[in-house]
Amino acid sequence: MKIISNIAEFKEHIAQVKQNGLTIGFVPTMGALHAGHQSLVEKARIENEYCVVSIFVNPTQFNNITDLAKYPRTLEADTQLLEETGCDLIFAPESKDIYSDNEISQTFDFDFKGLDKVMEGQFRPGHFNGVVQIVSKLFSLVQPDKSYFGEKDFQQLAIIHLMVKELNLNIEIIDCPIVREASGLAMSSRNERLSPEQRIIAANISKVLFESRNFVPEKLPKETIDWVKAEIKLIDGLEVEYFEIANSINLKTAKSWSEPTVGCIAVFCGEVRLIDNIRYKQISVE
Ligand code: PAF
Repeated sequence: MKIISNIAEFKEHIAQVKQNGLTIGFVPTMGALHAGHQSLVEKARIENEYCVVSIFVNPTQFNNITDLAKYPRTLEADTQLLEETGCDLIFAPESKDIYSDNEISQTFDFDFKGLDKVMEGQFRPGHFNGVVQIVSKLFSLVQPDKSYFGEKDFQQLAIIHLMVKELNLNIEIIDCPIVREASGLAMSSRNERLSPEQRIIAANISKVLFESRNFVPEKLPKETIDWVKAEIKLIDGLEVEYFEIANSINLKTAKSWSEPTVGCIAVFCGEVRLIDNIRYKQISVE
C-alpha cells in the first residue's frame, strides 16, 4: 500500500494507474476510520482493480471552528486499518496543497436546487458547499470509475448524486448501507468523542428510530415526527436538533407514506453532534 501526500506525485501515480488500464474505486474520507469506512473500502476493492482512499479533514465543510479542531485525527491507526482491509493507495494531502487562500475563503459556485436548504443544510450553513468543493476536487485528482459513500450521511449522498449529474461526471456513485455497532448506534468518527456512558445513551437514537417504523401506515409522518422528538426528549443526555421525515429523492417534507421516505435526525449527546436516518416502508395507494 502506497501513501502519497504530494499532489504532483499523486497525479503522476494516477496517470500510471490509468495508463495500465486499471479501473479505480475511490473512498473519500476525513480519517478516524471505523468499520463503516472499512465496508466501503472492501466494496471498492472487490468492484475495482485499484482502490484509492483519501484522508483529508476538509476545513471548508466545518461551520464550527471548535468542531474542526476537535475532529479526531488518527492517521497511524487509519493506515493500519487500510493496510489490513486491502487498499492500494492512500491520498493524504495537506490543506495548503488542496486550497489556495482564495478558495478557502470563497463560496464554491454550485446550484444545489434546494437540497442544501433543509436539515443539515439548515443547521450547518455552508457545510454542503464545502463538501461539494472538496469532493469535486478529489474526483478530478483521483479520476475514479466508481466512488463509495455511506448512507448515514443521507443528505450528503443525495447532493453528491446531484453534483455528478449536474457536472456531467463519468463516475458511478455507490450508496452503501449504514454500519451499526451491536447497540444499534450508527458508526461514526464522532463516536470516538463519546464517553462509555454516552455511548450507551446514544444507542437510544436508533432504538427510537427503529420503533417509529411501527407507525407506518396508521399514523401520519407529522405524528411520527412528534413522537420521535418527544421520545428522545425523555432521555437524559440527548437533545434533538432536528428530526424530519423527508421524501428520499427530493428531500422535501413528506406528507404521506405513499412517497419514498427517510427519517433524518441530528442529536446532541453532550457536546457531540450525531446524525442517523431510517427508511420507512412505502405504502402504495390505489
Ligand atoms: O463524509 C465525509 O467524510 C466527508 O464529508 C467527505 C465526503 C470525505 C468530504 O470531505
